[in-house]
This record gives sequence, C-alpha cells and structure tokens, in this order.
Amino acid sequence: MDDKQLVALHAARYVKQGMLVGLGTGSTANYFIEELARLAREERLKFTTVASSTISAQNAQSLNLPIVALEHISSIDLYVDGADEITPDKTLLKGRGSDLVKEKLLAKAAERFIAVADASKLVTHIGENFPIPIEVMPFAWKLAKESLAQIGAVGDLRPNAAKDGYWITSHGSYVLDMKFAQNTNAKDLNALINNVPGVVEHGIFHNLADIVLIARDGQVSEQ
Ligand code: 5RP
Repeated sequence: MDDKQLVALHAARYVKQGMLVGLGTGSTANYFIEELARLAREERLKFTTVASSTISAQNAQSLNLPIVALEHISSIDLYVDGADEITPDKTLLKGRGSDLVKEKLLAKAAERFIAVADASKLVTHIGENFPIPIEVMPFAWKLAKESLAQIGAVGDLRPNAAKDGYWITSHGSYVLDMKFAQNTNAKDLNALINNVPGVVEHGIFHNLADIVLIARDGQVSEQ
C-alpha cells in the first residue's frame, strides 16, 4: 500500500454513522472514496456524501455511495481532501485541478476538515514548489493579472493540456499561475489575492484545515 492510500484509510476512521461527508478531488481523495465504499459495504456504515468535483461525484456514484448536491447543503460534518503543499501552520496550497471553488466551499462548511497527503507535500512556505493558482473570470484575466503584478506576482494564464488554448475550470474560469516573493506570508497573500477584482478563488487554504495527516514510509502522523 502506498503512502497516499495509507493516509486516506486513516482519515476514513473519522467517518461516523449518519455523517454528511465532503469528498475531495485527486488521487489521495480517490483512495478515501474507495475506502468509504468499503466501509459502507462491509461494515454497514451509513453516511451521505457531497463531492467537490464532477470526477469525485462520478467515482462516488459508481461505487453506489449516497450523494447530495452542493447547492442543497448548509454545512457538513467532515471534509477530507489532498493538497499540493502543506506548511507547518496547516496552510495548504490546492488547485492543480479545476475545482478550487467547490473545494474551498466544502473546506469552509466542514465542522472538521482533514487534509491528507504523503510527506512530499510538506513545505516551509506556500509557493515553494508550485505557483499559486488563481481562478479569474475570463474577461477579467488581464486586469486581474495587472493587479497581481502590482503586488509583486509574476506568471501567466495556464495553458490547456494540448497547449493550443487556455485551461478552463469546471466553472468556466481561466487560471493564472502566479509566483510571489518567497518572503510574503500565506496570511497576507491570502488577503491580498482576495482583494483583487475579477478573482473567483485561489489555491491558498489558510486557517481552514483542522487536522493534517501525513504518511511517510508506511507511518501516519498528525501535524
Ligand atoms: C485538486 C487538489 C488535490 O487535492 C491536490 O492536487 C493533491 O492531489 P493528489 O492527491 O493527487 O496528490 O487540490 O484541486
């Protein structure tokens, strides 16, 4: 079993009878969804899920997990999702995919948000390994990029996979992948980006994760 699977299985222990559980997106989140299906099947655990992306909703449905739509919920008991970077103060960088908006909505709505990852995701500061994904309204991208440049960011629109156009998120937005000065702390960066007109959402999840579970060489620890 690899570390991503191990940490996902560990997080599934937090799922209790009757909970409404948010499903993250990505390979680690997929292991969590598979484990939920096993718990429902083999241990008769009853819960309802809500997905952060179409792909996770599809996975859940193909495994016969009960699922409700995001627009029908006002809070959830538990949200489990992966991350691209995790700092010692539990700030996350997310959003290599296309589902930042739903991911952040669920992270915020959750009574408890557990971030799960292998040790490769641990960093000392946000932006160490990846630029910050910033989802912008398509017509606003240039003005948003200019506003971001004024606060020290460098970057550009994310190309699509074929590199013949731009990446479109599941909500029809573009993504600016921006690098900031390494000494800007995540809390300030979060506030600065939130203040840029045209920005729909961004990948810094500050003050949202309650628990970070990290698997390293077959051992899970809480950060
Ligand atoms: C998607 C995400 C993922 O959770 C993040 O990219 C981690 O993915 P993986 O578990 O496949 O390493 O933020 O928007």
